[in-house]
Amino acid sequence: MIDSRAHQQPGIAPEAWRLSVAPMLDWTDRHCRHFHRLLTRRTRLYTEMVTTGALLHGDQARHLDFDAIEHPVALQLGGSDPADLAACARLAQRWGYDEVNLNCGCPSERVQKGAFGACLMAEPALVADGVKAMRDAVDVPVTVKHRIGIDRGESYDFVRDFVGTLADAGCEVFIVHARNAWLQGLSPKENRDIPPLRYEQVYQLKRDFPQLTIVINGGIRTDDEIAAHLAHVDGVMVGRQAYHEPWQMAGWDLRFFGEAAPAGERAQVEAAWMDYLQAQHLGGRPWPQAMRHALGLWNGVAGARSWRQFWSDHHHKLRPPHELSALSPRPGTAAGRERIAP
Ligand SMILES: Cc1cc2nc3c(=O)[nH]c(=O)nc-3n(C[C@H](O)[C@H](O)[C@H](O)COP(=O)(O)O)c2cc1C
Repeated sequence: MIDSRAHQQPGIAPEAWRLSVAPMLDWTDRHCRHFHRLLTRRTRLYTEMVTTGALLHGDQARHLDFDAIEHPVALQLGGSDPADLAACARLAQRWGYDEVNLNCGCPSERVQKGAFGACLMAEPALVADGVKAMRDAVDVPVTVKHRIGIDRGESYDFVRDFVGTLADAGCEVFIVHARNAWLQGLSPKENRDIPPLRYEQVYQLKRDFPQLTIVINGGIRTDDEIAAHLAHVDGVMVGRQAYHEPWQMAGWDLRFFGEAAPAGERAQVEAAWMDYLQAQHLGGRPWPQAMRHALGLWNGVAGARSWRQFWSDHHHKLRPPHELSALSPRPGTAAGRERIAP
């Protein structure tokens, strides 16, 4: 058995994983990550999953390009062939990513046929070879995101042995979605809600492997819940809640890192975001593709609905964002409220 501490990678500090936004296909693209950076500087961001096939045979710049503002940012890979994973990890490092993460938690059928995602939890030796190949190829941290089990198995030993095998191969950071993946009969969406959450198993991993960085994920919503989990594990990864209620992230740098937030008010975030949209527009890129990620900015404030409707109105899609901004409802003000009245 190899002692995983013997080959610790430089630059890995558990604090780096204290808080992160989950990788979400079709959601956490570079526009989304840019928007999130206007709300929090310290939270770690993840790309959508990119398969090794798409990277090795597709448009690499389209998959990999990102803005410097997005750091710290991790590339999530889907794949299982060690040589392919190593080649993709090298690309990630060359592009400047801060981490390479391997997806062993996605239950979708498309992914199962390609032999990656959650079905890899049944093949820890293969995943270990992939981790080893990536670690040999790059200096940035190589991490794994996985579930606590597959199908109906409830034994803690399964996830403990999976983590132990990968730790022996040199993985030091594990992001654990605290529910099983049911590989038969549930859609990917149902697989994020129906298998029961079992946080205690993730806490137990931290107790059994105190030298590893253990990050918990799944169904975590409020800041108080985040704080409660941090008493048991090194980090918390938040997915849907961060995406749908982005303003919540504006409180994270102060509460969880003791640092000032990038913006004190939603209007400041909106103004900076409009500049980003305008730059997209001037570069010939349709700004609504970016704007869709920001539609929740004013949630909870009077006038949020009319603001959301205004910015998702397809009649506006060819107009410059700065021009539209002057016409936009102002949530929280009398003008903003007036516009939702029929
Ligand atoms: C739209 C969507 C796409 C997702 N895509 C990925 C993905 O590409 N890779 C991955 O590891 N997990 C993916 N997930 C799962 C999330 O990363 C996360 O594990 C899950 O949503 C549970 O966390 P939450 O309850 O905080 O959302 C996706 C989730 C959603 C909602």
